[in-house]
Amino acid sequence: MTGSPEGVPSGVSAGGVDPTDADAVESAAGAALDALAAAADLDALTAVVRAHTGDRSPLALANRAIGQLPGPSKAEAGKRVGGARRRVGVAAAERRAVLEAERDAAVLVTEALDLTQPTARRPRGARHPLGLLVEEVEDFFSGLGWGVLEGPEVEAEWFNFDALNFGPDHPARQMQDTFVVDPPQDGLVLRTHTSPAQARALLEHGAPLYVAVPGKVFRTDELDATHTPVFTQVEGLAVDEHLTMAHLRGVLDALAVAMFGAGTTTRLRPNFFPFTEPSAEMDVRCPVCAGTGLAPGEQAASGPATAVQDAVGTQVVAAAGEAAGAPCRTCGSTGWIEWGGCGMVNPHVLRAVGVDPERYTGFAFGMGIERTLMFRNGVGDMRDMVEGDPRFSRQFGAGV
Ligand code: PHE
Repeated sequence: MTGSPEGVPSGVSAGGVDPTDADAVESAAGAALDALAAAADLDALTAVVRAHTGDRSPLALANRAIGQLPGPSKAEAGKRVGGARRRVGVAAAERRAVLEAERDAAVLVTEALDLTQPTARRPRGARHPLGLLVEEVEDFFSGLGWGVLEGPEVEAEWFNFDALNFGPDHPARQMQDTFVVDPPQDGLVLRTHTSPAQARALLEHGAPLYVAVPGKVFRTDELDATHTPVFTQVEGLAVDEHLTMAHLRGVLDALAVAMFGAGTTTRLRPNFFPFTEPSAEMDVRCPVCAGTGLAPGEQAASGPATAVQDAVGTQVVAAAGEAAGAPCRTCGSTGWIEWGGCGMVNPHVLRAVGVDPERYTGFAFGMGIERTLMFRNGVGDMRDMVEGDPRFSRQFGAGV
């Protein structure tokens, strides 16, 4: 018996199968079951099912022919053909289940993704080290229980200068230091320091008060290795009863240890600021030479410089080519680096913002964040911090 591709025996599909011929019905059912078993995939199965169970299939035609049979043979033929069709239907469903399972298994294999395959990766970005350092400083002050505030970068001249006891002729007011916002008679400047936040914070919160205020400040400097017209300060302000310079020193030393590692200390040198009295320049002991004034390599391996590196967990890089015994380039062999200004809040400032200087005293300091990064992490050129080259930021890791 030759068959069509779907296995329908030739000669039976046109006229159908005689429903009273048990062999013919059995043979049609057998052909259907064989064809179902041979269907290799779901498409083939669909064709086989159509050929063997569709309207014009031998068994369907046989089923239809039952109607014309004389009464007595009807029931028997109906049972025979119906049974054959049921078997074919069950076999088709079973075959479909098998082929679908095979297809699903094959899809899992052919569509599997190799997640280890290299791709065209985009380099991950990294937070800028200045932002990370500011957060570190904020964490330090939060840990002391101080508040952290922000002030406006475009500032009223009154807050930037007048409230801070700058006389009308103070040289820092001159156009060459200060970016004045047009038109000048509006009295707005880009703040030249974070100290106006002292006056704002006291006006808003009164005394007692302990706050740190990080932020950008602006001065009309040219960008070079050690200057930038936009830089970052952190202002510290504490106003309370009985505060003295000793408290100032204690906070600065703790901050120096947090920034540069165990054993770091500060020193104060007399200076002048209109808004503090007395005023001082605060220096931090050079984290590269640990105050020895000598280039690294001269100190013992277990010396303070090593302790600094371990405690901070960052690398303090010595300038390349520094010979052992040569003067430390970071601090110019003085053993100290300038970190910012500080002092006891001038009573004029307290009075200007409504705080009674007979009852309260305070101390304040302004620390340079860029300088901290330079000395702590060996960044030799300020321009690296402002030019935005991601390779610079990535050296500090992808901190979040
Ligand atoms: N504002 C000063 C400066 O930018 C630093 C300073 C802050 C000094 C607080 C004293 C007290 O140079």
